[in-house]
Amino acid sequence: MNMSLHRLVYFSANEIAGSTARLREEVDQILETSRRNNALVGVTGALMFSAGYFGQVLEGPQAAIEMTFERIQQDARHADVSLLEFVPIATRTFESWAMAFVGEPADADLDGWQSTDFNMSAVSGEELLSKLHSLVAKSSLAA
Ligand SMILES: Cc1cc2nc3c(=O)[nH]c(=O)nc-3n(C[C@H](O)[C@H](O)[C@H](O)COP(=O)(O)O)c2cc1C
Repeated sequence: MNMSLHRLVYFSANEIAGSTARLREEVDQILETSRRNNALVGVTGALMFSAGYFGQVLEGPQAAIEMTFERIQQDARHADVSLLEFVPIATRTFESWAMAFVGEPADADLDGWQSTDFNMSAVSGEELLSKLHSLVAKSSLAA
């Protein structure tokens, strides 16, 4: 098993149809599963939802990242998974989060999803990472 610390950054298109409430429920489930699984294998990171896209940073032992990303890619709740970066790193950016979350509400009355106003499909891995880092730092709900 390769244990060297790596970071993987990708974005994907949302495939969860229906109301904002349904989207929110599914994302809550994704986060619950992610936090449970990631904690077991030493993966940390952040997930963002904005304008119909997911963006995610995963960091941890290389083998754990690879296994996690294999499962994520097969998930029908998103499509067109596009890898932006998979690199060795010296330190984690999201060390205290099994999976932080920042998102944008489609309905203003859904609290807890802050606006992101960010086009994920037009950025590099570094840009997505730094956007997520600043959003998570600002969000009291990310933990
Ligand atoms: C956008 C997105 C991000 C996800 N992120 C993670 C993650 O970080 N860790 C994880 O274990 N599963 C993640 N999942 C869920 C996996 O695709 C899969 O459903 C889950 O790992 C299965 O876990 P289980 O066998 O414990 O139910 C994500 C799914 C989506 C759609």
